[in-house]
Amino acid sequence: MVKTSQNPARREALKSLSQYIVSFALGIFLIPLSRFLNRLPKNKTVVRFARKGIREGINVLPAIFVFQQNKQIKILSRRCPHLGCTVQTDAAGKELRCPCHGSRFTVDGKYIAGPAKADLQELAYTSINEREWKVTL
Ligand code: FES
Repeated sequence: MVKTSQNPARREALKSLSQYIVSFALGIFLIPLSRFLNRLPKNKTVVRFARKGIREGINVLPAIFVFQQNKQIKILSRRCPHLGCTVQTDAAGKELRCPCHGSRFTVDGKYIAGPAKADLQELAYTSINEREWKVTL
């Protein structure tokens, strides 16, 4: 024979406790999800740069690298494919390196070594006028 509680006060207390436990469990899941979603970019960033200032080799701009070789350019994101740190050039300008976990890339963005396991993202660019280009991140 199954024994059931006849005490309504006890039943209400158990019901409140179970609601509290469910609310707590949802909070544990929803708070980090909310923080993650708030960190996602909301607006696209546009980087404008002058064609005149671009020289052969790697050019470092705040959010992008502009790699020029034989008058052809390639725009690379400076965001590391591993966890998103900003990639830098090495002292000699011969290689690109992530300061966070040490991923390394060639100056045209090809993966060499480290935890990133992928090339730097190549970005499309458009001409604003004959002197400027823009890239949307
Ligand atoms: S964020 Fe660049 S190697 Fe980890």
